[in-house]
Amino acid sequence: MRIGVLTGGGDAPGLNAAIRAVARPALAAGDTVVGVRNGWAGLSGDGDLVEMTRRDVSGILQLGGTILGSSRVNPMKNEGGLEVCLRNLRAAALDALVVIGGDDTLSVGAWLADQGAPVVGVPKTVDNDLSATDYCIGFDSAVSVVTEALDRLHTTAASHHRVMVVEVMGRDTGWVAVMGGLAGGADMILIPEYPVGLDEVVAHFDHRRAQGRDFSIIVVAEGVELDGMDRDSGEAVAADAFGHVQLSKRGVGERLATMIEERTGNETRTTVLGHTQRGGSPTAYDRVWATQVGAAAHGLVVEKRWGMMPVVRGGRVAVARISEVVAEQRKVPRELYDLARVFF
Ligand code: F6P
Repeated sequence: MRIGVLTGGGDAPGLNAAIRAVARPALAAGDTVVGVRNGWAGLSGDGDLVEMTRRDVSGILQLGGTILGSSRVNPMKNEGGLEVCLRNLRAAALDALVVIGGDDTLSVGAWLADQGAPVVGVPKTVDNDLSATDYCIGFDSAVSVVTEALDRLHTTAASHHRVMVVEVMGRDTGWVAVMGGLAGGADMILIPEYPVGLDEVVAHFDHRRAQGRDFSIIVVAEGVELDGMDRDSGEAVAADAFGHVQLSKRGVGERLATMIEERTGNETRTTVLGHTQRGGSPTAYDRVWATQVGAAAHGLVVEKRWGMMPVVRGGRVAVARISEVVAEQRKVPRELYDLARVFF
């Protein structure tokens, strides 16, 4: 068999663990493994494919990023782009293509599978917002970066009696914010799912000060809407190749900090964790689960279960249709946010 592997969209710690888990059993079985370079860019134009050896997929378990490269090139946005991918896939004589990605990358995979292409998916995104799976590669590593940052910010916030605003990734969901905030003991967490008005934020800080707490850590998800801040105005219109607004350009953290300072008189500082949440080595949790879903994807290839992908449910690997996984965004449940609020 000739088995292609592709990583698309934003990189995430654990991608290499997944590539290794697909490739190693395939190579051991005598199959050929073909790396598709830079996401869907590698199946666009003239294509960009490379045969991978055992050596290529050794010593990469602990490496962040993706040895195949990634991009946000989206064939769905270019006229005829999907057909070019399909043609390139056939021309490369791939018997299978393992697509490791988030909703945009997997949506292309789902379309190709609908056209009869031999595609299998793997869930990846630090945002953790894919439906039908409890686990996405990279999320745990991102949360651990946020947790460590909050631990560090606590001591400096306490020393200077400041409000520290920490902006984290997550696009339109608050998974990274709520889990990182819970683990790091945030005094307030703002996420897109459950909007909080600025008056409530101010009242919360007044209350804390009245209780003698003279410093605070507030975690804000990049996708939060704030009073008086229009998501699609000004610099917010900058979009990536998938057509998504680049949320980090909105500067929600800095704006929130300014508003808090103006309204409460508290001295504030802002930390935007940005791409540190996606860089560096995967956690042990991400290495183990990326290995499990990667190996399970190889199993689906062997069984020729096209259009399907491994997911994690209730601590076990299960199988779902790719189209089901990209059907909707998975939101933070109310109970989890309410649990975080107990500690505000
Ligand atoms: O989807 C993953 C993600 O890290 C989002 O949390 C963030 O908004 C976006 O990608 C950033 O993308 P880029 O790497 O293109 O700046």
